[in-house]
Amino acid sequence: MKINNRLKQIGDLVEANSFCLDVGCDHALLDIYLVKKNKNIKAIASDIAEGPLNSAKENIKREKLEDKIELRLGNGLDTYSNEVDTVIISGMGGRNIIGILKNNLKITKKINTFILSPNNYQEDLKRFLTKNSFYIDDELLVKDSKFIYQILVFKKGKKKYSKKDYFFGPKLLEKKGLLFKEYYTKELKSREILMNLLPKNFRLKRYKIKKEIELIKEEL
Ligand SMILES: C[S@@+](CC[C@H](N)C(=O)[O-])C[C@H]1O[C@@H](n2cnc3c(N)ncnc32)[C@H](O)[C@@H]1O
Repeated sequence: MKINNRLKQIGDLVEANSFCLDVGCDHALLDIYLVKKNKNIKAIASDIAEGPLNSAKENIKREKLEDKIELRLGNGLDTYSNEVDTVIISGMGGRNIIGILKNNLKITKKINTFILSPNNYQEDLKRFLTKNSFYIDDELLVKDSKFIYQILVFKKGKKKYSKKDYFFGPKLLEKKGLLFKEYYTKELKSREILMNLLPKNFRLKRYKIKKEIELIKEEL
């Protein structure tokens, strides 16, 4: 089955012998890729909606992987089971992901590894998880068609980060990979457009964006 570059890169971050819970699996293409790639990986593919779960069921059946991937219908981490050590959540807004983790904070704290690919509010997610005793183990920028996505790996433990680390991502800053410039040039442009649209009396918002624009310009 064909998998896009974003999901492939997420799958390649999963360690051998992991027991994964994929929250919001949709078609379960990631889970199929994972268990085909490594016979020691096990996965629970879960989704809040029946439609996606039915398409996941068909795909898993077509690949004859029913004994490797368990399907669960449910909200966020409600589908967790004790064997799970790695939780993957991708293709959702950052605040939605924070909501899922907050709703089941006890379970969140039991997880060893989170592999998360939020569409937005990445900084909020980094702050939330570091406040809850996780550190940023890795970060990737991945291009898929014309979009660039962030993939973040969190592991249990404490580390201190600067304002700049939270904004850009400590690992992305360290690596300064090929996509860094392209990604933050787009981020800069979107802030400049927003700055022109925001009314003058939105002082706090304008101040925050102005500071971010300065930060990006310094780094590029
Ligand atoms: C845009 S799709 C992303 C699919 C896949 N994870 C990916 O990255 O391509 C989002 C999926 O998350 C599911 N979803 C949204 N909120 C959820 C929640 N609170 N718990 C479980 N699944 C959720 C939706 O039903 C949908 O199938």
